[in-house]
Amino acid sequence: MERAVAATAVVTPRGPGTLRGSGAPGVLELRPGAVAWDEDGTITYVGPPEGLGVEAEWLEGRTVAPGFVDCHTHLPFVGWRADEFEARLAGTTYRDQAGGGGIRRSARMLRAASDEEVLDFCRPLLAEMLAHGTTALELKTGYGLSVEAELRQARLARRLASEAPQTCVVTLLACHAVPEGVDRPSWVRAACEELIPAAAAEGLVDAVDVWVEDVAFTLADLEAVAAAAASAGLPLRCHADQLSPSGAAEAAAALGARSADHLNHVSRQGVAALGAGTTAAVLMPTSTLLLRAPPPPVGELLDAGALVALATDCNPGTSPVASMPEAVAIGCALYGLSPNEALVAATANAAWVLGLAPAHGTLAPGARADLVVLEGDAFRHVPYRPGHDPVIRTVIGGEVAWEREGGC
Ligand code: NIG
Ligand code: FE
Repeated sequence: MERAVAATAVVTPRGPGTLRGSGAPGVLELRPGAVAWDEDGTITYVGPPEGLGVEAEWLEGRTVAPGFVDCHTHLPFVGWRADEFEARLAGTTYRDQAGGGGIRRSARMLRAASDEEVLDFCRPLLAEMLAHGTTALELKTGYGLSVEAELRQARLARRLASEAPQTCVVTLLACHAVPEGVDRPSWVRAACEELIPAAAAEGLVDAVDVWVEDVAFTLADLEAVAAAAASAGLPLRCHADQLSPSGAAEAAAALGARSADHLNHVSRQGVAALGAGTTAAVLMPTSTLLLRAPPPPVGELLDAGALVALATDCNPGTSPVASMPEAVAIGCALYGLSPNEALVAATANAAWVLGLAPAHGTLAPGARADLVVLEGDAFRHVPYRPGHDPVIRTVIGGEVAWEREGGC
């Protein structure tokens, strides 16, 4: 049986595909609008309500949009690090923490926890994401810091993915921090020669990531990881220019990476390379806010024609945030994105980063019926009230996966 909703507004990036640069003109706004889907959860109609062949549920004063796609998170992890945030407020830097605490501390917590304890910690976070409208997301390793522990984290990610209502893509963050007692070149060799091939052979991951930074890995390491990822047939992603400029964005673009993420200190050449190439610029404004870091040159990235995506970076160190509406809100207030630019960045473009476009991230015939019902008569209400969850209903594959008490 076909099902349909009609609402005061339906907003979506025009599919299929991504929108580069400002992207805002590529947003379709129907007022009123309607969406219908078949029993397989595939969208059959997006248009004015009068064009519907079936009866629709009418949602007065509501906006229907594609479900959010969170294309950069560090789940699964276990344990918080609120004391580190407090220490940073008192003057410690994240760079200081990157040496001994930080990532290595999360690695110790992961090691000390059983599989069930890790999953029990993560399940409520995925539920929180669902209640904030996330219908697809990335899970990442990077807290294993040994070949076996990274493979374990990837297996836990796949387990979480198999039980979550959301579509989950798993990334191997093979080079996140140098493990204690190991030198950097030895770890890069182990990551490239053992970890990446083993994870690929077991079908555990869909992409490979690396953090290029003076406290993490070098441009030469990025090249080595890129070669190993290419041999394994996996797309490359890169934490680039987060704490300082390193030339990582332009290097990632030259290597044909799927994305360069963070970009707080991206150079002019990096902006130009992202504008000209196919590597997406993944922005994480809540991470910037909580690190009290300078924002990336978002206007310049848009003007250069970059494919801009938004994500939460959900992790216990820099961004303990699970809410895409919050990422959208801070993306608008701190980065100057317009609401429609943020919509594109948080849906269609983010889906492209995860290799999920065009089935995810847009409302269009043939796409999956992953959608959210939002408060208000336009998408602008999402960034307007940070800290408030504007999502009333999350639909995944045509089924209601979460609904606020009291319903629509
Ligand atoms: O994306 N910069 C590297 N990685 C994470 C933080 C990880 C952590 O502190 O646990 C980030 O900000
Ligand atoms: Fe990250």
